[in-house]
Formats: sequence, C-alpha cells, structure tokens
Amino acid sequence: MDQKKTWSSSLLFIMACVGSAVGLGNLWKFPYIAYENGGGAFVLVYLLCIVVMGLPILLAELIIGREARSNAFEAVSKLSGGKHFWKLLSFLCLFSPFILLSFYSVIAGWSLDYFYNAITGNLTHLTFETTGPHFGAFVSNPTKQISYHTIIMLLTAGVIMKGVKGIEKAIEVLMPFFGIIILTLSVITLSKYGAGKTLNFLFEFDFSKLTTKGILEALGHAFFTLSIGLGAMIIYGAYFPKEHSIIRAGIWITVLDTLVAFCACIMIYPIIFGTGMEVKESASILFTTLSVELHHLPGGQYVCALFYLLVAFAALSSTLSLLELVTSYVEDRFKLSRLKGTMLSTFIIWLFGICSALSNGGNEFFTSLKVMDRLDYILSNWSLPIGAFLISLFCGWVLSEEIKSRELGLKRDDPRYIIFNFLIRYAAPALMMVIFVSQLVN
Ligand code: TRP
Repeated sequence: MDQKKTWSSSLLFIMACVGSAVGLGNLWKFPYIAYENGGGAFVLVYLLCIVVMGLPILLAELIIGREARSNAFEAVSKLSGGKHFWKLLSFLCLFSPFILLSFYSVIAGWSLDYFYNAITGNLTHLTFETTGPHFGAFVSNPTKQISYHTIIMLLTAGVIMKGVKGIEKAIEVLMPFFGIIILTLSVITLSKYGAGKTLNFLFEFDFSKLTTKGILEALGHAFFTLSIGLGAMIIYGAYFPKEHSIIRAGIWITVLDTLVAFCACIMIYPIIFGTGMEVKESASILFTTLSVELHHLPGGQYVCALFYLLVAFAALSSTLSLLELVTSYVEDRFKLSRLKGTMLSTFIIWLFGICSALSNGGNEFFTSLKVMDRLDYILSNWSLPIGAFLISLFCGWVLSEEIKSRELGLKRDDPRYIIFNFLIRYAAPALMMVIFVSQLVN
C-alpha cells in the first residue's frame, strides 16, 4: 500500500475513527432509547455490551483491516482464502454502508436546514404546538429533501475524492470544532439546569424497569454506535501504519464515543424533564421540541444554530467512512481512478437515497413503502448484527493466533490476549445469537 494511503499519525487515525463512530446514534438515538428504557439499569447493560462485545469486535475489524490492507470486501476474501461462506461477510461490507449512507445522508441534510434556519432567525416563531407540523411540512417537501441530500453527498464526495489525505484534512477541522461545540453546549445547559436529575436518571440502577426488549436494544445500539458490523473499521484499519497500537486506538475510540453519548444526555435530558414530554415523541425530539426549547436558553437562536451545526458535523464525519467503504471497493474492482470511483459510487448512492428522501411524505409511492423506516429496520436489526456476528467468528476462528497476537502486539499467553480471544470466540457470538433468536421469536 502506498504512502498516500496511510494515516499520517495515530492521533489522526483515532480522530477519524471517533468521527465515524460519533454520529446521529450518539446525539439522537442513545438519549431517547436510554430514556424509553428507564435510564440507569439500561445504561449499565449498554456499557456492559460495549465492553464485552463492542470493543472486541472493533479490535477485530481493525486487525482484519490492517492485516489485509485492502478494501473491506477484498480483505475478507483474501484472509479467508476465498472460501465461499465468507462471501456473505464481504457482501455485507458493501451492502450495509450503501444502504446506511443512502438514508443517513437525508437525515444529515435535516440538520443543515435547521442550522441555516436557526441562524437566520427563521425558527424563532416556533412553539411546542407548531414545531411538529413545521417538521412534518419540511420532511414532506420533495425539493428541500432532495436538495439537502444532494449537498451532503457532494460534501462527502469532495472529501473522499482526495482519499485518506482528504479525510485527514476534513477531520482536522470537523473534530476540534465538534469538541468545542459539545463542551460549550453542555456548559450552557448545565449552568441553566444543573446535572443532578440527569445523573440520577442515568446512574440510578432500578432493574425493575429493565425489559428484554431493553436489553436487546442495548445490544443493538452498542455496535451501531461504534460503527461496527459493516467494515468501517476494516477500511480505516487498512490505512493504519503497523507501528501503532491497535489496542490503544480501540480503547480511545470506545471511551470517546461513550463520553459523547453521555454529553448528549446532559444536553437533552433537562429539556425532556422540563417539558414533561411523552415518551413516544422522543424519537423526533431532536428536530421538534428541542429546537423550541433551545431558543429559551440565553442567546437561544445561536445556541440552537450551534446545536444543529454539531449534529451536522457528527453526521458528516460518519458519512466519510461510509462513502470511503464503497468507493475503495469500486475503485479497486473496476480499476478506476479515485476521482471516477468516487463519482460513480456517489452517484449510485445518491440516486438510491432519493427513495428515502421522498419517503416521509414527499412522494406517495415511497411514503407508502416507508422506505426510510424499512431500510433502517433491515440495517439495525439484521445486516449490522449479522455482519458483527460474522466478524467475530471470522476473527475468532479463521484468523490464526499468530496474526492476532502480532496485530495486537501481545504475546499469546498475555492475559489481555487470552481475554480478547475468549470474548471474540465465545462471548460476542453467543450474545449475538441471543439477539437473533429473540428477533425471530418476536
Ligand atoms: N456510529 C454511527 C452513529 O452513531 C452510525 C454508524 C453505524 C456508522 N455504522 C457506521 C457510521 C459505519 C459510519 C460508518 O451515528
């Protein structure tokens, strides 16, 4: 692999991976599923899933990527010696990012619109009654939906076109700003509301509130939030120089991703508690109630704009790894230049994404098919878990001990290596089987 295709430093690599992991899942999904599931006990299960399953699979992806040094699709066939069974995993490393990016880009576009309208003062008139209908009218406006989806795809393509160096440049701008904005917003909400209620809610372990459904959601979200199960860490790992530590990187990515999810709760919960919202509303709260409530803070209009900028940055740093996955495959498979590879993959994903963009009222046919909801369902409940399951089996049972210990930089009798091997061989696949069986039963 040539020099152009490696990260210039371990720090940039970690920042890029954190960028991929931190996204709408942290800012949107985590606060509301933790809320729906009653807080404390759910959070504990979630943290357990992150440690037992998330981190080992994340490390497994990095190992596979760095060992194979090729696009995710080929990495699997290369290391499996071309065995047919593993073609399924190769396929998922192409299919899942394709599907995810097609609708993630639409949602990312919403944050751009809200940012623009907040900063120009066009959201100041919204009230708790009118914010829902405003959002409804926006998502069912076909022109706006397609335009924002196009902008996000073009921005992402502009970066990916320049390869790893392009990603590095973008990450160097996006991540520090992301850090500053999230800290600023947390301080603003903390100084107005304090953290007491939020912390009580997150760390009060009342197990009577925990349901089987909640446990499954915690499991599912653990790998959604870390961006595992579709090869994102395989492709980023492929560009990671041999001399840096995979374990250290993996731990940083996991810790920072989790911290951001908690910060999101600190920003959002006081608002939920303050307005006594219905649980059902919480899924769309990010673009409805929250936009009104943010205007009540000091400097409201700008705080609100800053918040949607934060969401946009989080989403954009995630779309990068998704497009990189597809582009690196297209580039290698059809022997295209980086520019042509990027153009082709962007165009196909953009085109398919239009079905999602128009599925929230923009077009009768796509709306009746519920394209966006269905794709999200297929992805979160099936293709990501199956991908993660196969990756853990692949790393646990197909990769040799020699490869794993070399990549991790640990001797085979090192307790850390033994724990990793146990988790990736037995614990992670077993937990995953639990998800599948209960999914089928339900
Ligand atoms: N982790 C992202 C989030 O929290 C979503 C995601 C899942 C993702 N898998 C991914 C992003 C792969 C980039 C690449 O929003």
